[in-house]
Amino acid sequence: NDSLADGGTSLPIPPILKDENPDPGKAEFTLVAQKGSMEFIEGKPTDTFGYNGDYLGPVIRVKTGDDVSIKVKNEIDEATTVHWHGLEVDGDQDGGPHSGIQPGTTWNPQFKIEQNAATLWYHPHLLHETGEHVYKGLAGLFIIDDEDSDNLDLPNEYGVNDIPLIVQDKQLDENGQFTYDLSMHDVMMGLQGDTIMVNGAINPYVEVPKGKVRFRLLNGSNARIYQFQLSNNQKFYQIGTDGGLLEKPVEMDKLILSSAERAELIVDFSEYEEGETVELTDKGTSFMKFIVTGEEKGPNNVPSKLVDIPDPDETMAARTRKFVMSGMGRNVSINGKQMDMDRIDEQLKLHDTEIWEISNEGMGMMGNNMGMAHPFHGHGTQFLILDRDGNPPPPNERGWKDTILVAPGEKVRAIATFDHKGLFMYHCHILEHEDAGMMGQFNVE
Ligand code: C2O
Ligand code: CU
Ligand code: CU
Repeated sequence: NDSLADGGTSLPIPPILKDENPDPGKAEFTLVAQKGSMEFIEGKPTDTFGYNGDYLGPVIRVKTGDDVSIKVKNEIDEATTVHWHGLEVDGDQDGGPHSGIQPGTTWNPQFKIEQNAATLWYHPHLLHETGEHVYKGLAGLFIIDDEDSDNLDLPNEYGVNDIPLIVQDKQLDENGQFTYDLSMHDVMMGLQGDTIMVNGAINPYVEVPKGKVRFRLLNGSNARIYQFQLSNNQKFYQIGTDGGLLEKPVEMDKLILSSAERAELIVDFSEYEEGETVELTDKGTSFMKFIVTGEEKGPNNVPSKLVDIPDPDETMAARTRKFVMSGMGRNVSINGKQMDMDRIDEQLKLHDTEIWEISNEGMGMMGNNMGMAHPFHGHGTQFLILDRDGNPPPPNERGWKDTILVAPGEKVRAIATFDHKGLFMYHCHILEHEDAGMMGQFNVE
């Protein structure tokens, strides 16, 4: 196919990890954190980390109700952890900074999937090392299916018209290495590279069938906030947020996604000619290409109703808890404090519903909104946004969220129920901020 010859690399599709337990309702996986090597630039192999391979990791795919057991082996030379971002499990299975896996050892978390269909992800969470471990390639998708998602008429042929896109920006040095020597600028803004990779490939193309195609988009970058758009300004539908499907598809022509946020999108390629292409851009800069080819596939329409999302009910909340993000550079903090492994910052009661009021003081200069946006993430539950500065959230944020971008000067209120016990983290998901201490601990009991 001629159109492909000049198209660069074909998009790698992360494999779905083999479930080693044949019993229905049970799932068993083995994940190995290992060292690898990738030739992103010809002749200049890059030292990387990956799970079960050289770079990134396979997709862990489970069903609601499954009893899951995962053996996580650490074959890199340093301690790491694996955290299930967005998963609602007890604190001791959550893979936070207290669950260090020493080199050569195995950690075996076990949990039941109690939440609805969603596109989650997993990544390391060791104190002060999260940024570097993720940057070198440790990250993968964690997909949950349920009856609702199975019965909806959505594109669902994995790798064909249901395509994962893990978007990350990287900086390769003259030797082709991922340098993780943070400059003052990197510490302040978070590490932002000039090369955008998708599923570990630079400027890839992917062939998509005519018809509706679903993309599971993860901003797996350390810090960058993307504004995704199609190069022809074509509209698309957002059908899912961090923690599952939306109530109904939201038509849009651009999507802002901060670090760790996910979105499920449907793009309609049915009007394209055979071989026609369109590019996916960040703030107008193209970083990957879709080539429409082959027979029309999948559903004719986007379902007008997806799932039920409860109306957030403030009267259910036992209390409002405040989180104030402030500072800059190495002084970033939440509620004026930096992470201390031996200090529990917030004590919660199991099964309580709470409103979390998350505000961004900017650089803490009175009366101005200078500073930067911080994506706030809470573990162990999913939130519904009540309001942003008193206004209802935009339609594409009226779904389950575990990571909420808060602009300088902004105040966001979100509501969640805490049905899992144990010690959990809340933090800024700009990994350089998290590693600098913009994180705290809450205990649910
Ligand atoms: Cu994506 Cu606390 O992590
Ligand atoms: Cu998390
Ligand atoms: Cu931050």
